[in-house]
Amino acid sequence: MKWNADLYDDKHSFVSQFGENVLELLDVKAGESILDIGCGTGDLTKLIKEQGADVIGTDNSPEMIAQARFKYPDVRFEVEDAANFTVEYPCDAVFSNAALHWIHNSAGVIRSVFEALKPGGRFVAEMGGKGNVGKLRAALKQVLQQRGYTMQAETQIWYFPSLGEYTNLLERGGFRVTYAAHFDRKTPLQDGDQGVAKWIKMFGSQYFKGIPEAEQADILQEVTDLLEPAYNENGQWYADYKRLRFIAIKE
Ligand code: BEZ
Repeated sequence: MKWNADLYDDKHSFVSQFGENVLELLDVKAGESILDIGCGTGDLTKLIKEQGADVIGTDNSPEMIAQARFKYPDVRFEVEDAANFTVEYPCDAVFSNAALHWIHNSAGVIRSVFEALKPGGRFVAEMGGKGNVGKLRAALKQVLQQRGYTMQAETQIWYFPSLGEYTNLLERGGFRVTYAAHFDRKTPLQDGDQGVAKWIKMFGSQYFKGIPEAEQADILQEVTDLLEPAYNENGQWYADYKRLRFIAIKE
């Protein structure tokens, strides 16, 4: 998927704003070596550096990495696949915010992270968990099915595992999970009744493969109408995010 890094920063900066409190979970110590995988345009990587760590941000989108380097020239960023990477020197921690749900190859992620860590090192992450944007996905599926787009209705872009599923994978990968939580976080959408359409255009364009442009607008309107009772609270629209967070130690 090709990312629009400017739009991501302009309209979806809540991704890194919410990420700031997952940094508390990372609990950076000055001098630590840290890898931030799926770093997007680098906002949290920069904060990790400001907390005194020796950090590298990686993302498999060249557009995101170009934007990150432009914004933060004093931070090291590299294009890397989080499901298949190696490091020159093992690090103290691997961090990730709002990225792992884009990667279906969870075994590859867990294996690469395990190999990248020093013994005793930690993997700290937040991602979309089971049921994330469940109402939005159900509304999209319903509208696409009603219009005969049965293939598009079955689109599976994201990987939203349950707590049990992901912690089990971590344990099988050699980690000891010392903390895990799966919780609701309703997330504000910008631009009022245009917010759902903008979110889907930014993150879910794969649902519209092969659908004429003119019809896409009608579909987005129908999805918005279906979601309005659940998403619109006195003019402020919220998406039904569900987060999965964990700390896992390489034993
Ligand atoms: C999330 O952060 O939960 C998310 C963001 C974009 C697409 C899907 C999920």
